[in-house]
Amino acid sequence: MATTVTVPATAVTPVSIKADERIPEPCVVVIFGASGDLTKRKLLPALYHLEQEGLLPKEFSVVGVARRDLSATFAPDMQDGILKGGGVDANDARLKPFVDRIEYFATNFDDDNGYEGLKKFLADVDGKRGTKGNRLFYLAVAPEFFADIIGYLGKHNLTQSNENGNGWVRVVIEKPFGTDLESAKKLNKDINAVLKEDQIFRIDHYLGKETVQNILVFRFGNGIFEPVWNRNYIDHVEITAAESIGIEGRGPFYEKAGALRDVLQNHVMEVLSFVAMEPPDSFEAQAVRTEKLKVWRAIEKIPIENTVRGQYGPGKVDDKDVIGYRQEDRVDPNSTTETFASVRVVIENWRWAGVPIYLRAGKRLEQRVTEVTIVFKQPPLHLFKTNGTNDKIEPNILKMRIQPDEGITLRFGAKVPGPTTNVKPVNMEFSYADAFGKSSANGYERLLLDAMLGDATLFADREGVEATWALFTPILEAWAATPPKNFPNYAAGSEGPKCADELLEHDGRAWQEL
Ligand code: BG6
Repeated sequence: MATTVTVPATAVTPVSIKADERIPEPCVVVIFGASGDLTKRKLLPALYHLEQEGLLPKEFSVVGVARRDLSATFAPDMQDGILKGGGVDANDARLKPFVDRIEYFATNFDDDNGYEGLKKFLADVDGKRGTKGNRLFYLAVAPEFFADIIGYLGKHNLTQSNENGNGWVRVVIEKPFGTDLESAKKLNKDINAVLKEDQIFRIDHYLGKETVQNILVFRFGNGIFEPVWNRNYIDHVEITAAESIGIEGRGPFYEKAGALRDVLQNHVMEVLSFVAMEPPDSFEAQAVRTEKLKVWRAIEKIPIENTVRGQYGPGKVDDKDVIGYRQEDRVDPNSTTETFASVRVVIENWRWAGVPIYLRAGKRLEQRVTEVTIVFKQPPLHLFKTNGTNDKIEPNILKMRIQPDEGITLRFGAKVPGPTTNVKPVNMEFSYADAFGKSSANGYERLLLDAMLGDATLFADREGVEATWALFTPILEAWAATPPKNFPNYAAGSEGPKCADELLEHDGRAWQEL
């Protein structure tokens, strides 16, 4: 175990999350699927955090759209979500005026009359609030509705600027974007038939996380790390997205998804692209997307032997007994859906050739931890072999902790005080909370703001989603063709299936402990 020396990495100047004059034009955020959990738990709290920061335009409104008639309860319910979302005092003077700008419109998503009604409703909102015909449609609905809703929006002239040629229309699409390469291509084709690519914002909420964005700042905003960020110095890389929660009542969704589709293909691949990409020419959408795409396209076809999958059985999490996946509500008692997936990839380019990159994502693991670990090569000579305890020099390790306990740890060897030359690993720590204070932001703030500003830098694009699906679809097909015989193969609350350890043992390596 490494000793931890906390080196206070305090911010030198006060840090404000306010970016320079990044206030969007007047607009309405129209949320389809507004009765769902995401709207109340994440989207409205995030919009309110923006309001608190003075980053929303004065002429602004939120319109929730869903099937049920919730006109009377929607705004108070969203207020409840805002208060629970954190960082908000119930007496905050901005709260009531903000909640007063929340509206609701009930319609079925496949009802032509409903879209005509919505059009009129939004025109009234423009009149009342001065929102000038600018609309951000947010599709927080089940994926099977994405293409249909966009089709109806197009059919009813809701995807173009208004009659006077003013106003913009953008559409945010939640994940999952397709379920394999073919379906992602079809979805792209369907929505591109209605919308221009610069109107489409495919969201991956991981890119809203400060710690994920900080990967680029760490690499390209400092001078000392980039020179060692390559195959000459790095032995291997691990990216872990471990969750201690189970499927949280989402049986029907998860049965069709599984860990590879749900987390590895999108969140983990986005993180990988930030870890591995070349410096972009600028921090603009096209430049960043180009570099990300180059990373994904340079990944060698992943042989099936370099993949493993698992499913949790009953076990204990936080000292509480929990059921296995097959016992979860609305899950097939013989389900072969994986709740854990891990792959070994190699990026065949000048920077990374020969450096194994191990990715893993799973539910009901011992801990909730998402992190990137860069394990550096050993020094060429072991000079300090003075006694048995330091025969094996530990490698230098850089850990970027995405969540929880956000921060960065650098591990290096230090001389233990005393008459012998004993080396012990120690950790140098940077903690976000210590340096910048605790934040109640949930990641959607930045992404919603960027979408209102038309900045797509932190959103996935057409080619990107297809490139990641192209990598994983053959694995999904191979897995579907050979159902696992040994599921469940890890206990809830454990570090995952044994086969995941073997993936690294085979290369003479071991995972970082969770
Ligand atoms: C979602 C997945 O996209 O990400 C969930 O559908 C998962 O299954 C979640 O739990 C993880 O997000 P976070 O921000 O909690 O790491």
